[in-house]
Amino acid sequence: MANLKIAKLGNPILRRKADPVSREELEKPETQKLIDDMIETMKIEDGVGLAAPQVFCSKQIVVLGFEENNRYPDADVIPFMVLVNPEFTYLSEEKVEGWEGCLSLDNLRGMVPRSQHIKLKALDRIGKEVQLEAHDFLARVLQHEIDHLHATVFIDRMRDFSTLTHLNEFETFWVKEAIPVA
Ligand code: NI
Repeated sequence: MANLKIAKLGNPILRRKADPVSREELEKPETQKLIDDMIETMKIEDGVGLAAPQVFCSKQIVVLGFEENNRYPDADVIPFMVLVNPEFTYLSEEKVEGWEGCLSLDNLRGMVPRSQHIKLKALDRIGKEVQLEAHDFLARVLQHEIDHLHATVFIDRMRDFSTLTHLNEFETFWVKEAIPVA
């Protein structure tokens, strides 16, 4: 287990499209170790999701998960999951604005429009196909993470920057409770 270094905005790896992972590659011990390390890092960093490019690996791997946490009393619980080569389709055209933050963009928050309802297809960590429908917070986190696999960060999705805010100002002027970042 290891606490991996997080790539920060400006690092070219965040602007490179991640490569799909073959089943052979997924089975390799180094890939399985990467997944374990990503989960560990996400927990240490208090994140709700983490994509492989954020830890300097340009592969289509995402981890998610969020247990009840006193620091984020309003956040929904998300079961821990590993998604490899995820693809999704929108099940609602309407987009809803919500606050996001990112482990790769220190101390910034902004309102991002996201689809409220998506359908997702991926492999799990042992290469089994998984399909799921996601709503609201989970749908938002999934869209944020999958964007990382396609060289996109949350500020790219903002309609305008009028809500882009530093953490201190966020907690002073916008929302009292901290929000989990991804
Ligand atoms: Ni992020």
